[in-house]
Amino acid sequence: MPQGNSRHSTQQEIVIIGAGVVGLGIAWRLAQRGASVTLFDKNQAGTGASRAAAGMLAACAEAEPGEEELVELGRRSQALWPDFAAELEEISGEAIDLRTEGTLVVALTADDQARLAHHLAFQRTLGLPIEWLSAAQTRQREPHLAAGMAGAVFSPTDHQVDNRQLVAALLAAATQAGARLRQHEAVSDILVEGERAVGIRLEDGSSVHADQVVLAAGAWSRDIEGVARAERPPVRPIKGQVIMLRMDPAAPILNHVLWAPGVYLVPRRDGRMLVGATVEEKGFDTTLTAGGVLSLLEAAWRVLPAIEELAIEETAIGFRPGSRDDAPILGPGPLAGLVYATGHHRNGILLAPITADSIAQLVLDGTIDPSIAAFGMGRFMPPVAA
Ligand code: GLY
Repeated sequence: MPQGNSRHSTQQEIVIIGAGVVGLGIAWRLAQRGASVTLFDKNQAGTGASRAAAGMLAACAEAEPGEEELVELGRRSQALWPDFAAELEEISGEAIDLRTEGTLVVALTADDQARLAHHLAFQRTLGLPIEWLSAAQTRQREPHLAAGMAGAVFSPTDHQVDNRQLVAALLAAATQAGARLRQHEAVSDILVEGERAVGIRLEDGSSVHADQVVLAAGAWSRDIEGVARAERPPVRPIKGQVIMLRMDPAAPILNHVLWAPGVYLVPRRDGRMLVGATVEEKGFDTTLTAGGVLSLLEAAWRVLPAIEELAIEETAIGFRPGSRDDAPILGPGPLAGLVYATGHHRNGILLAPITADSIAQLVLDGTIDPSIAAFGMGRFMPPVAA
């Protein structure tokens, strides 16, 4: 309990910087518990990474060596998702289309298969519920896959939600619970008095008092001034280009979330199919490039040739908030009254429920849920001289 921030008797004023899925989820949980919450976003709520996201809840299929703690966090959040989705839909009246077909990671060639088998052996050491499907078993699930593909890893618990509907539902739920939303109001600084954050300053020069400030500004989190440089989260934008195709919803050519070399495909119930995503270190560059589109469509076509008949409905650019170790930054920092909820990188939608619950708990009770203990800002702070 590093901040001594438990204040049960009076209503706390909480400011959240950033109204994406992470900020909105925290606001919802805080407002449900009676806190006075105001969210600030420099744009319209949910139009950053939350809008460009794929909505994959992929705790297992994407598990990589060295990310064991992150996989555990993802699995915990994945387990929260069914109840989180049901509660959110009931309260908000908005469907968020949690689809539970699972995820297929397709091997196109024998080389791909050998690589996936090697990876599968590692994933099994973590006890993840994934299995190898033969080509025939894979095709039974997805008949339109490329002829000659070698099979797939099936991850039955890696589901998906419609991230844009999720934003709408969180917005409705948070505001119904009493959270206030101030859009198109950019925060320039965190206000500090002594050793404590006491509010924020907006770009128009006005200031807003807060008992606690939650920094949930995604890829923009590092740009908020007012705190020492070492206390700014080491988060940078990782550009992703995505393409939205349109299927006939009555005859979809894909039902599972699909990974293949160089691409993932995410079918929505309404017939949209998201094709993603590039991973680029280009700062906040919003250019849609021929190379990006070419590589995504080529990789998508190799695994699912029938996409060539589909209309391109939309393209989008998103900026993943990537931290130095690709894991989120969750919890208190050295400055009392400032809580970090950023750096979710590829996993913002997956980690939304556990982030919302654990950050609300930290803000209101002053306790750090053990599941986020390894993800504090402390891991990036310079060592204190002895
Ligand atoms: N979570 C999907 C992506 O980052 O591209």
